[in-house]
Amino acid sequence: MRNVAVILAAGKGTRMGSRISKQYIDVLGKPVIYYTLNAFENSTVDEIILVISEQDRNYVEETILNHYGFHKIKRIVCGGKERYHSVYNALKQAGEADNVLIHDGARPLILPGQIDMLVKQMEIYKACVAGMPVKDTIKIVDQDQYVTDTPERSRIWQVQTPQVFRYSEIKEAYDKMMLEEHPAVTDDAMVLEKYGNPDFKHEIRLVEVSYENIKVTTKEDLIFMKGILLNRGR
Ligand code: CTP
Ligand code: MG
Repeated sequence: MRNVAVILAAGKGTRMGSRISKQYIDVLGKPVIYYTLNAFENSTVDEIILVISEQDRNYVEETILNHYGFHKIKRIVCGGKERYHSVYNALKQAGEADNVLIHDGARPLILPGQIDMLVKQMEIYKACVAGMPVKDTIKIVDQDQYVTDTPERSRIWQVQTPQVFRYSEIKEAYDKMMLEEHPAVTDDAMVLEKYGNPDFKHEIRLVEVSYENIKVTTKEDLIFMKGILLNRGR
């Protein structure tokens, strides 16, 4: 089984509000993306496809790749306007993969053992998505912010990445979705749910990873990240 990781680092990080994209912000002496790549480098995945913005290519090659020598990065692909464009650009380059692990570059706290555990689960399931049960009660609101419903908390999970799929299944679903002008999807599992084989949607398995596996999105996430790293002894 050939397991290929697609690591997404072509976003602008608007919500972080920093001058440089959040994946390149320095945390304890190394850029956020270093930690993400290092976890995959030390996992059992066979290959990493890194997705970046064309304008960051020189910086990434000189500062990150040459400096840290990640041997599993076999291809660097240009991202697109939306996250799903970035994913699709990578999927088009991953034809020889059996399983593909799609991961946010902005989730640097994932651990090699957690990646390996998801890969292992693919021996049983056709799609495995990292996630955790929510801790807060979730409310559904209308457009004026009045509560319309309170779903049963025990059935609600927050989803994370990596999300692992059979390459052929996810590629086929993406091919179908990309025929639409403005697809409304917020994660890769949703691409399968909406555009995949209709029999497939009940086979996406959520797998508990960790509450530490946050997506660095706003300023306070950097404080959390630093705290976790220090707690791990780096
Ligand atoms: N991403 C990408 N290509 C895009 C948009 C996002 O590769 N066109 C990547 C980001 O770099 C990030 C991951 O997808 O690693 C998750 O996206 P998100 O957290 O939304 O990052 P940004 O889009 O960069 O942030 P924001 O939405 O605040 O602008
Ligand atoms: Mg975004």
